[in-house]
Amino acid sequence: TPAPSSAGFPPIVRKKLMGYVGFANLPNQVHRKSVRKGFQFTAMVVGESGLGKSTLINTLFNTTLYPPKEVLPPSAERPKTVAIESISADIEENGVRLRLTVVDTPGFGDFVNNEDRHVLTHYVAVMSRFDAYLEQENRVNRQKIADNRVHACLYFIQPTGHSLKPIDIEFMRRLHTKVNLIPIIAKADTLTDEEIASFKQRVLNDIAYHKIQIFQAPTYENEDEETQAEQEEIASKIPFAVVGSNQLVQTPDGRQVRGRAYPWGVVEVDNEDHCDFVKLRQMLIRTYMEELREYTNSHLYEAYRTEKLLGMGVAQDSSVFKEINPALKMQEERTLHEAKLAKMEAEMNLVFQQKVAEKESKLKQSEEELYARHREMKEALERQRLELEEKKKRIESGRPLTPENKTKTRNRFLRA
Ligand code: GTP
Repeated sequence: TPAPSSAGFPPIVRKKLMGYVGFANLPNQVHRKSVRKGFQFTAMVVGESGLGKSTLINTLFNTTLYPPKEVLPPSAERPKTVAIESISADIEENGVRLRLTVVDTPGFGDFVNNEDRHVLTHYVAVMSRFDAYLEQENRVNRQKIADNRVHACLYFIQPTGHSLKPIDIEFMRRLHTKVNLIPIIAKADTLTDEEIASFKQRVLNDIAYHKIQIFQAPTYENEDEETQAEQEEIASKIPFAVVGSNQLVQTPDGRQVRGRAYPWGVVEVDNEDHCDFVKLRQMLIRTYMEELREYTNSHLYEAYRTEKLLGMGVAQDSSVFKEINPALKMQEERTLHEAKLAKMEAEMNLVFQQKVAEKESKLKQSEEELYARHREMKEALERQRLELEEKKKRIESGRPLTPENKTKTRNRFLRA
């Protein structure tokens, strides 16, 4: 049932899971609170068109969040993502509710034929979500804050086997301090094991060389051995080389698996010997979902917020200090409010000045028109006066006045 969502984001649909996803295991994670309340998670998928972004999202969440393109007649052109789309779904597993939102933007080299615009589009999409959150925080009633911030950015790298492209580097450099970047090698079934290993190394070298900060999967010493091993393994797989498919195919030994069937065999999505899909899913949904949310809130958003407030002339020491210091928080709110008022006042002044200028120019125009009319009338009168004087002179200097002449002159004078 579509339900309206807050902050102008698209409606939420209820989705039924087709199988077990794993986020119900979240109680194992550090923060149990969000699990009880249900939680929101927003992932942004970025990469060239056709790299399998929609397919992977459907595979990850085991649900057709994206309508399958296979239902289209073969003659129809495969729809591409041409505008910023965000799809939200409420999914529930073992009583744990997750509101999942996927933000999808046009791939570069396709609809947006300009690389700068491609980066800018994503930048704006991320920042506008920070803005929306900050605005909610500054409201008087902060009871229900919808967290639509981007918690993870899945960056799809084309499986070229070479190294990162300039657009990949540009994108990551611009957004690495705004989002949790998770690099993914798309369509890993098109590369051999050795090619994947060396490509991963080259991608990591490029990332290090350009000082790009990707999401670092932390390992916790106080966890049980199994979890620690999982954490280490996840970290070792980055960038994840993945294969996506929601299709069930039959393996030569008769098993039904999600995968891609080729004449020479089946690539199994959920087989860790075939690709890193399982590790990516564990990271996103089970092991690090809470960390991704937490890091977004405490580091990425906090940095954005500090920058924003500094721009408005408010210095803040640290978020922790602010939390325990209501006076500082109030001061910050007041400054924000005052800044808003000042902006409104400046806008009103501008409108007022414009209106005054318009009125003045109109008055000046009608004044000039009046002057012109006045001048014309004066000139016409002057002309008449001169004519009359001329006539008078002619009459006076004319012949002596006989009674006949007298009548003629009078008639002429009256006609004039
Ligand atoms: P846009 O919406 O245009 O940005 O495309 P997209 O990145 O969402 O790609 P999509 O999921 O629509 O997949 C494009 C094509 O690639 C489809 O034909 C998929 O079946 C295929 N595909 C998806 N994932 C994989 C994969 O892991 N390996 C291979 N070989 N093909 C894949």
